[in-house]
Amino acid sequence: MMITKSVSFTYKVFESIDELTPLETELVAEAKKASLNAYAPYSRFRVGAAIRLESGKIICGANVENAAFPSGICAERSAISNAVSNHPHDKPTSIAISAINYEGITEESLSPCGNCRQVIAEEESRSGNKIKIILACRNNIFVFDTISDLLPLQFNSKNLKISLP
Ligand code: THU
Repeated sequence: MMITKSVSFTYKVFESIDELTPLETELVAEAKKASLNAYAPYSRFRVGAAIRLESGKIICGANVENAAFPSGICAERSAISNAVSNHPHDKPTSIAISAINYEGITEESLSPCGNCRQVIAEEESRSGNKIKIILACRNNIFVFDTISDLLPLQFNSKNLKISLP
């Protein structure tokens, strides 16, 4: 017999950066700085991501666009590639994301695109740790405890019956 299921999730909304912990505030500041390094001549939408690793290090990334549009990469995946390539054993604990449009820092939080959600999900699987997601904008800050909240019923290595190293 057919049943209807529902999925729900919770997230925190902060009205001011001062409500975050000092480490989170620093991470948001780094994401904002990283967005200034974006190469986004086509969309003029500059995104920055800053990842905190278990060691305390911060690794950043920005979106890097390309005349062949699909060859561009988002800030979140840019930061994750940077972190995994250079610090493969230092697990990410959180990621802050911020964006700038033609008006300055966006009024509303940028919600990571589907590709980036999938890649953050893989990083949670690879490291075995939840990654806190901090979406910062001019008006408020949204905090999610895990990418599972933004990507329920995700496709992952278990679907392939592969156990990760
Ligand atoms: N972008 C990101 O960097 N992250 C996202 O989560 C959404 C979109 C970038 C891709 C492209 O360079 C520009 O924003 C406009 O889509």
